[in-house]
Amino acid sequence: MNVGIFYATYSGGTQAACEFLSQTLTTAGHTVTMKTINEVTFEDTLNYDLRIFASPSWDFEGKEGQPHQDFITFLANSAVKKFAGKKCAVLGLGDSSYAHFCGAVDILEAFIKAGDGVLATESLKIDGYLFDMEKNNGLVSEWAKKLTS
Ligand SMILES: Cc1cc2nc3c(=O)[nH]c(=O)nc-3n(C[C@H](O)[C@H](O)[C@H](O)COP(=O)(O)O)c2cc1C
Repeated sequence: MNVGIFYATYSGGTQAACEFLSQTLTTAGHTVTMKTINEVTFEDTLNYDLRIFASPSWDFEGKEGQPHQDFITFLANSAVKKFAGKKCAVLGLGDSSYAHFCGAVDILEAFIKAGDGVLATESLKIDGYLFDMEKNNGLVSEWAKKLTS
């Protein structure tokens, strides 16, 4: 399967999780392209069998549970565009001590559904990724299997 991983990060966790996901999918025989979301247009993301969007949740303009600023720009630029039945998936890093745990995931899912995209599997929300990478990479590994099955 030809997989695109599009991510953004503030403190490096989402990048590390995506690198692990990329390695896992590559080892399983898939072709993976990993880029930051500000490197691609909406149209670029259509060139894959599966596209994965990965964002931390953060404060944006005083509101908690928002995607990374670069995703906010991407969503604003892609408002009326359509996935038209194409497979998508969402990975979110967050911290459950915040009121809107992994709120970015809900926003990205709503964007995919509004664009007639199809979720390949349930989104993965990871709590405190950098505090236990071994355990959390285990979750990423399990998720990778569901994504491509
Ligand atoms: C200022 C700030 C705001 C945050 N807001 C949220 C939030 O609203 N919801 C959430 O689940 N996590 C929140 N987090 C936790 C981050 O999403 C989490 O640490 C994540 O792993 C960061 O990913 P990154 O390393 O890719 O930037 C916040 C963290 C910081 C420092």
